[in-house]
Amino acid sequence: MVMACGTRKNAEKMKVENHSYSNYKEVSVSHLNLSLKVDFNKKELWGTSTLTIKNNSGANKLILDTRTLKVDHVAITDADGKSKEVTFEMGATDSILGAALIIPIEKNTTSVSVAYHTLPESEALQWLSPEQTHDKKNPFLFSQSQAILARTWIPLQDCPAVRFTYEAKVEVPPHLMALMSAENPSAKSKDGKYNFRQTKPIPSYLMALAVGDVEFKSLGRNSGVYAEPGMLAKSVNEFVDMQSMIDSAEALYGPYAWGRYDVLVLPPSFPFGGMENPCLTFATPTIIAGDRSLVSLIAHELAHSWSGNLVTNETWSDFWLNEGFTVYFEQRIMEKIYGRDYAEMLTALGRGELQHSLDDLMKEAPDDTKLYLNLDGRNPDDGVTDIAYEKGRFFLRSIEEVVGRTEWDAFLRSYFSTHAFGTTNTKNFIAYLNEKLLSKNPEWNKAVNTDEWIFKTGLPANCPVVNSKELQRVEEAVAKFEKSRKVADIQTKGYTTHHWLHLLRNLKSLKQEEMAAMDKEFKLTGIGNSEIACDWYRLSVENGYEAAYSEMEKFLNSVGRRKFLLPIYKALLKTPEGKKRAEAIFKSAEKGYHAVAAGTIRDMLKEAK
Ligand code: BES
Ligand code: ZN
Repeated sequence: MVMACGTRKNAEKMKVENHSYSNYKEVSVSHLNLSLKVDFNKKELWGTSTLTIKNNSGANKLILDTRTLKVDHVAITDADGKSKEVTFEMGATDSILGAALIIPIEKNTTSVSVAYHTLPESEALQWLSPEQTHDKKNPFLFSQSQAILARTWIPLQDCPAVRFTYEAKVEVPPHLMALMSAENPSAKSKDGKYNFRQTKPIPSYLMALAVGDVEFKSLGRNSGVYAEPGMLAKSVNEFVDMQSMIDSAEALYGPYAWGRYDVLVLPPSFPFGGMENPCLTFATPTIIAGDRSLVSLIAHELAHSWSGNLVTNETWSDFWLNEGFTVYFEQRIMEKIYGRDYAEMLTALGRGELQHSLDDLMKEAPDDTKLYLNLDGRNPDDGVTDIAYEKGRFFLRSIEEVVGRTEWDAFLRSYFSTHAFGTTNTKNFIAYLNEKLLSKNPEWNKAVNTDEWIFKTGLPANCPVVNSKELQRVEEAVAKFEKSRKVADIQTKGYTTHHWLHLLRNLKSLKQEEMAAMDKEFKLTGIGNSEIACDWYRLSVENGYEAAYSEMEKFLNSVGRRKFLLPIYKALLKTPEGKKRAEAIFKSAEKGYHAVAAGTIRDMLKEAK
């Protein structure tokens, strides 16, 4: 993964705690009752958000987060059920945080109701025309709330330290299905009206909504897949192991807390690989490779049902606690199902990605190589780098290697159950780790070196070494090729997606003829596997292999997953001609990207000016 947002241009001074204006310590929200009508013509949601509150400190106002929301009316209700309309205020608008919605409340106010609508530019939401979907027949809408975009479609306390249950009534055009991060329907309703219920308390960044022509198919006891009709069979085939992933995860770290685990396969503009919305992971269709080679992403989003959704980072500076734990856990699920060699191959690839990011970040923003991040005045999106994911994972793996699996797994199980439906932060984690685990053996503390991992830049010397037999085969082929410069010396028999990625990441400075020979031999330009395509197009740009450019442009115009867009645009921006090409591609492709992907690329292009 490449740094999401190399720029701090948007950063403004904010006197705001935890990227939220909300006074959540004074007034706590315990439940959300949402009622929404989905208007595809206007590209707006219209409705009401009613929050059940507890005025812990007798405060005279409730402050909520909003951004690009139009608030129409606000009413408060007291313990006797008496309601009245109140005059609300909107604070000044900040480009990252949006604007505070300030609502006068009374000591005995028990709920607050906000009538509002979103605007077409509300960033969490992407409204797709039929052409932008797989089946090209119906429009589609999906949300992406993490990190601080829930406030662009619901006025609430948009802060990961706050948890609430919710229920929702959503009205959509009758031929479409609505789905949320909650108990979901398995078939379309006749009248386009849907009711949802999330009975477990969740943080706001896990609020999610999708509307489209989708159908459901069960995959097992408590799992299934939703996709557009034309994608459903392929998705079912790709995800056959999902039920056993759930079972393996439970065997590792305790019961699955959310009832069902389903996956929704979205249209290709979805800006992430996956998003762990409770009960319903949102996923990119680019993981449907046809050979099940990219399903570790499902293991990852499933693992978040523990690390993230059950035990949540208290602030975005603690983001590594969500993602580092999840990558570690993902790996353990993969190992359990597909064996150690396969899992080590994935880990070795992760190590390579980490090195790449470290090399970049140590030059650009060394402080961002610390696990605990300083995000003051910054967009939390700046923290979405391989550091949280991969440095986080290798830190946990190094603890595993010091204390041994038995102790470590027991520790993790108790960590999840002790903090279930709560938050955790870096300081608490360190204290818990020391108290429950490292203090058991005087040698362990020193060997683990927690402080350096979390608070220092770069990578500690005790970072675990990964040896993947499978990937060594690839390295040998690269070495042979580097001597002979003959493509025939790269023996690709038995290569999986991961071997290809390792190959493409290790080939450097290729001549045009060599690129052409590889392309002829391996048929890489236009390849359907998007992971391989991404690395091939990056390599093509780096080596000026123009024969791949037209397919590359098609790729950049049809896929909106940020992880694939960034490396290619970044490679283009290294030369003046490349920059022109990048600008031209972005101009046509931008309208198909979700706002978070478009924003990152736009910033990159501006910075390169
Ligand atoms: N929760 C993240 C996605 C995310 C993080 C969205 C921060 C917005 C802000 C999700 O679990 C994730 O990590 N997705 C990865 C997949 C993965 C296998 C590492 C992705 O989208 O590439
Ligand atoms: Zn994740």
